[in-house]
Amino acid sequence: MTAPALTAQAPQYVRGLSPYVGGKPIDEVARELGLDPTAIVKLASNENPRGPSPRALAAIATAAAELTRYPDGNAFVLKQALAAKLAVDPEQVVLGNGSNDVLELVTHAFLRPGDEAVFAQHSFAVYPLATQARGATGVVVPARAYGHDLPAMRAAITPRTRVVFVANPNNPTGTWIPPDPLRAFVASVPPEVVVVLDEAYNEYLDPEQQAHATTWVREHPNLVVSRSFSKAYGLAALRVGYGVMDATVADLLNRVRQPFNVNALAQAAALAALADTEYVEESRRLNRAGLAQLTAGLDAMGVAWLPSHGNFLLVNVGDATRVNAALLRQGVIVRPVANYGLPAFLRVTVGLPRENERFLAALDVARRA
Ligand SMILES: Cc1ncc(COP(=O)(O)O)c(C=O)c1O
Repeated sequence: MTAPALTAQAPQYVRGLSPYVGGKPIDEVARELGLDPTAIVKLASNENPRGPSPRALAAIATAAAELTRYPDGNAFVLKQALAAKLAVDPEQVVLGNGSNDVLELVTHAFLRPGDEAVFAQHSFAVYPLATQARGATGVVVPARAYGHDLPAMRAAITPRTRVVFVANPNNPTGTWIPPDPLRAFVASVPPEVVVVLDEAYNEYLDPEQQAHATTWVREHPNLVVSRSFSKAYGLAALRVGYGVMDATVADLLNRVRQPFNVNALAQAAALAALADTEYVEESRRLNRAGLAQLTAGLDAMGVAWLPSHGNFLLVNVGDATRVNAALLRQGVIVRPVANYGLPAFLRVTVGLPRENERFLAALDVARRA
């Protein structure tokens, strides 16, 4: 059998998937445009611009001595630390190879062909992908002011709905739902439907804005709260995230989880990063200052942007394809979001002050070109 004939046997919903498109890597842009990689600024993947916590680096160095051994597949120590911090039981925590993995595990455990998953327009690209990969149907609810229209999402739930995804703050729009309406929404969802509350950017919220939704799980066994070490904790390359849920739901997700889905260096680094509260606070502070710097610069140029609660900003540049190409030529990588239904916008991750400055200067040039 030829390879094309072989792949033709795969389910149509798998063959019809469009692979996730990430931010362009620095080396790729350097190769394609003949630029010096050290002069390139990447503000395309909502990464933490500071470099990792020194405590995480030290933990990685120590853990590296044990690389011949498999990691603890149950991540005992990291789960204990997370559970203590979040005031939940360790049995309620499922670790993922990035929080992306947790999202996938939910779809793996709960979705089958014919089921529906509800999510918002202009929300994270992995929800439709992970839904389709299970042969289930994604139900896209039109956004309201670029954010989640929770009453419309509630109304979109049918007897076929098994999962609802809510990103808070939302990527790529940066919108945020305050705790009270969010909690009311969770309470309004039928108990047989899983609500995935994706809080990958939670730590960028001011502490008084944070919902502490992990504690809602006790009341709502259908709630899964996912969080990430990739953003404010600065460990995107290691791929580690977690979900907090009812212990019975966690047990189910653990059955479809790869036995060693979080590697030993990631576990060690996440444990150290979790304890480094100063690093997260400084990341939040730097992010707030960076957002102010970017929005002031954009205002000065008369360029519109959407208020953001994440570590990124949606900027309305008009012809985003042209402006993006002009930015790339100047060695500035940002993220076009036409695939999110936002063809006039570019998503810019908040960088270090000099990186934000580089973006603003390059955008000024690009707009004049
Ligand atoms: C809303 C949202 N959820 C989840 C993720 C996945 O992050 P990770 O798998 O690195 O934890 C991202 C990454 O960009 C995101 O924007």
